[in-house]
Amino acid sequence: MLLRSRAVPAQLALRVLAHRLLSTSTSSGSLQWNLPPTVGRRLRTHGYAVVDDALPSQDLLTFRDELVNAAIDNTALLTANSTILVKKDGSSTLIPKHGIGEFDLSNAAVAHKLPQLARFSDSGDLIRVLQPLLFPDNERRLARQTVKAQINFGRGACFPLHFDTDASIDHRAVTAIMYLNEDYQSPDGGSIRVYPFPGAVVDIEPRLGRLVLFSSAWCLHRVLPSTANSRLCFTTWITTDEPSPYPKDPPSEPTDPDGDEAWEYLMYPTHRNHILKLVYADEWARSIVESHPAGHLHDLLLEQHFRDAEIIARAYGRYLPLLDRYLASGSLAPRVYGSEPRDEADVDPERKVAWF
Ligand SMILES: [Fe+2]
Repeated sequence: MLLRSRAVPAQLALRVLAHRLLSTSTSSGSLQWNLPPTVGRRLRTHGYAVVDDALPSQDLLTFRDELVNAAIDNTALLTANSTILVKKDGSSTLIPKHGIGEFDLSNAAVAHKLPQLARFSDSGDLIRVLQPLLFPDNERRLARQTVKAQINFGRGACFPLHFDTDASIDHRAVTAIMYLNEDYQSPDGGSIRVYPFPGAVVDIEPRLGRLVLFSSAWCLHRVLPSTANSRLCFTTWITTDEPSPYPKDPPSEPTDPDGDEAWEYLMYPTHRNHILKLVYADEWARSIVESHPAGHLHDLLLEQHFRDAEIIARAYGRYLPLLDRYLASGSLAPRVYGSEPRDEADVDPERKVAWF
């Protein structure tokens, strides 16, 4: 499911008025990213990584002030995030989610309004820090970064399950989301939920200074409903020069649909992305309902989801007993990031899959 934008109603932006802030600081020069060396390995083994206090709080508050003040001053630059519905006849239409406004820093007027974030967007800062951690032998080259800042206006606003990109469409490799919510409380909701299958689901709260990174093409994720007046973040997508190594050289279909070879086949990234639509079919449907206003288009999105799931179930039917056994044997129940020491544990060899 790909995500695009259109104008956001001005009254939503006005909801942040109570939080109007005075910018008291400006950042200059490169940002001082604080990413531990373990981040690269964690991304490669788990598909996602979390870093707390990834930037000095002064820079975070500058970005937050700039974002809030821009939302109040110029709502015309704030666009609504939408889901693309591809209809049966091949035509497509945009279905706006409720309560999600975005500033696209590639827009010159937006960049003018958000100069500190624009400077970061143009800097390539995060690429320089992440390159030696994620690809220490330069196996792939991180090349460009694009940035969007986002405001979630609460009242249950959220995102459905999705991948950020399809590897056949663009070269986005890493998504990095920086959260700017100084007074975040757990009851506010709005956690990002990652589904690093075959690992367990993890909910990560959007706290100030927390950076969440994941594989853009292969890590399924969503945003849970938020009740905070405003949930603020900016997202950086990092693109490589070369396309993803997947789906090159996919494994050939095994003769035995029930053995190790079959598991390896299912865990190949392109196949894994398909079967996740089955594994999480009901949760996926609920997330579509939660994210979009009720109505005809919303019903069409649900129809499309179940139609896709049916096609995938037919295509992978011979592997369903193997998949069912895995689901029955291990718990995929969501847990909250940081609540268990197991979070940093190594991945079981049988759960190792390719992420980059
Ligand atoms: Fe996303």
